[in-house]
Amino acid sequence: MKTTVQKSSFGKLPDGSEADLYTLTNANGLIAKITNYGTIITELHVPDRDGKLADVVLGFDTLAPYLERHPYFGCTVGRVANRIYQGRFTLDGKPYTLAVNNGPNHLHGGLKGFDKALWQAEPLAGAAVKFTYTSPDGEEGYPGTLRVSVTMTLTDANELRLEYSATTDRPTPVNLTNHSYFNLAGEGDVLGHELMLVADHYTPKTADGVPTGEIKPVEGTPMDFRTPQTIGARFPELGGEPPGYDHNYVLRGEGERLAFVARVREPKSGRVMELRTTEPGVQLYTGNFLNGTLTGKRGAVYQRHAGLCLETQHFPDAVNQPKFPSVILRPGKTYWHDTIFNFRAT
Ligand code: BGC
Repeated sequence: MKTTVQKSSFGKLPDGSEADLYTLTNANGLIAKITNYGTIITELHVPDRDGKLADVVLGFDTLAPYLERHPYFGCTVGRVANRIYQGRFTLDGKPYTLAVNNGPNHLHGGLKGFDKALWQAEPLAGAAVKFTYTSPDGEEGYPGTLRVSVTMTLTDANELRLEYSATTDRPTPVNLTNHSYFNLAGEGDVLGHELMLVADHYTPKTADGVPTGEIKPVEGTPMDFRTPQTIGARFPELGGEPPGYDHNYVLRGEGERLAFVARVREPKSGRVMELRTTEPGVQLYTGNFLNGTLTGKRGAVYQRHAGLCLETQHFPDAVNQPKFPSVILRPGKTYWHDTIFNFRAT
């Protein structure tokens, strides 16, 4: 089989502009479909242990429902992923106020984050597309014009590689991630998926989901996935309403170099997804707020825990937590983030 990128139309935005869909196929027949609207990964087909393909990400069949409110299916999140306390921070002595869109807090870039932008797309050799977006000075309250790119590649080693970069003309916070919801069975819920996560610590949060600033050991808590556990096994102990994980883990890697982070295995199909990243953190989110009101691809109704996200990132609210690794990008420097999901079956 040949490694290819094919472009087709994905529909029109309200302002009349056209969104496209890029179909990436690798030499082994794996398929990823990505639209330049929000750089959303709309489909990802990977084989089970018998070679049978299933689509392992949640999403919609057409563009229209992506233009409505949805919980960030498959998109690139930015300018800053996750929550910023009350949408406020101070940088170089100057206070900034951001759009508030999640209770009292700023979430995933604000009212119109990078997930709702139409990106430029440039197909590259092999099964790859480079997406670029220029976020204007002041967008959602953020300072500086930010030039962002994300190159998405489906390699012949069955990896989906996401390489992000950004430059700015004024100091600004940047924390980009991808918000794909995975379900390696291709249906049902993820409670029986096994997860191994190489993290000794996590960042505790308030009821609003904002870090308290502490860094606590996972040892002896339901947060501990250093040996594989099924996702749902420790929900009763974990508590919370709705139940499930929505936590940032502190990874062992010192950043910059790719480090192995997580392995997810779905026992029935044998599908395995492994995750490597250069980022210092990962948000484990188990689709707790899905509630059966969204109908996705092929008529699937997304009930609670229909998918799980592993969002590689700097820690939430890092702009207000001096002890967390900094998310500030300055002119002349380049933000760089490399994350690889690889797929196999056992
Ligand atoms: C957040 C959740 C949020 C979800 C969908 C995750 O990254 O941590 O709290 O509900 O995204 O918006």
